[in-house]
Amino acid sequence: MKKKIFVTRRLLKENEEKLQSLFEVTLNKDDKIYSPQEIISRSKNYDGILSSVTDPINADTISKLSSSIKIIANGAVGFGNIDIQAAKAKGITVTNTPDVLTDATADIQILLLLGASRRAYEGRIAAETQKWKWSFDFLLGKQMSNKRLGILGMGRIGRAVAKRAKAFGMEIHYHNRSKLSSDLEDGGIYHKDLKSLFEQSEFLSINCPATPETKNLINRETLKYLKENTVVGNAARGDIVDDEAMVEALKNGTVFAYGLDVYNGEPKIHPEYLKLKNIFLLPHLGSATKRTRWDMAYRATKNLEDFFLGKKPQDQVN
Ligand code: DGY
Repeated sequence: MKKKIFVTRRLLKENEEKLQSLFEVTLNKDDKIYSPQEIISRSKNYDGILSSVTDPINADTISKLSSSIKIIANGAVGFGNIDIQAAKAKGITVTNTPDVLTDATADIQILLLLGASRRAYEGRIAAETQKWKWSFDFLLGKQMSNKRLGILGMGRIGRAVAKRAKAFGMEIHYHNRSKLSSDLEDGGIYHKDLKSLFEQSEFLSINCPATPETKNLINRETLKYLKENTVVGNAARGDIVDDEAMVEALKNGTVFAYGLDVYNGEPKIHPEYLKLKNIFLLPHLGSATKRTRWDMAYRATKNLEDFFLGKKPQDQVN
């Protein structure tokens, strides 16, 4: 008998068909974002869930999930939306989708840094309202080429950002839980603490995962370590940054401009971010290419398939 999978969000058609060929599947045709309560009630008596970053599956939700559920395959590399320890305690395997979105996300990170540093938002408004003329001092930004880039979190995506940044002649500095092998760090300069990284960075790329340890890691205290006029980009998670502190830093010139794709309490955006000009916003587009989204759903499906074949899924995170 086919295993029953509850899919929380609409997927690309081919991915839904693949799932249907393997499992008895309930799809979300309207792509409604379910509340935790709805996830609990709708997934009752299913064997697994294919979730997404928009599903907050915390310890309380997990405790109320049907005991038939044995796996949550998150269709994302980040799994900060799921309490993986609570899941483990209940005997639920959690998987993610690493690798397949590294390039797309690193591309967006470069776009965020460029969009912020070269004042793309103000440029767009000026062009749209026809209120501009070329002049020697019109919308001067900061040049990214040949600067020092600090990378916070040198995992797959951080390293892919470093690779791209090198093509801009940037000098790579990074902070990570541990120093990487020289192969992986590939000329990058390791900083064992955040302070030392921030003091060196002219551009800062946030690429660490969202964990209880990284929540509000960029806060009033740590922002003080930055040089005046640093450009910051965040394609990781909104809750790594204390928004109030960032707004202050954007106003007082510690941060020249902030490019971000991810938000605290998405899809809400801190209202001050919508008022400031030195900000470049995107609506969580990091992995938004057809190829990447297809790969993410494929990988989540593969994790489900392996799990129910009795194998350890390659992307188990708990
Ligand atoms: C991820 O996979 O964690 C991305 O943020 C999804 O877009």
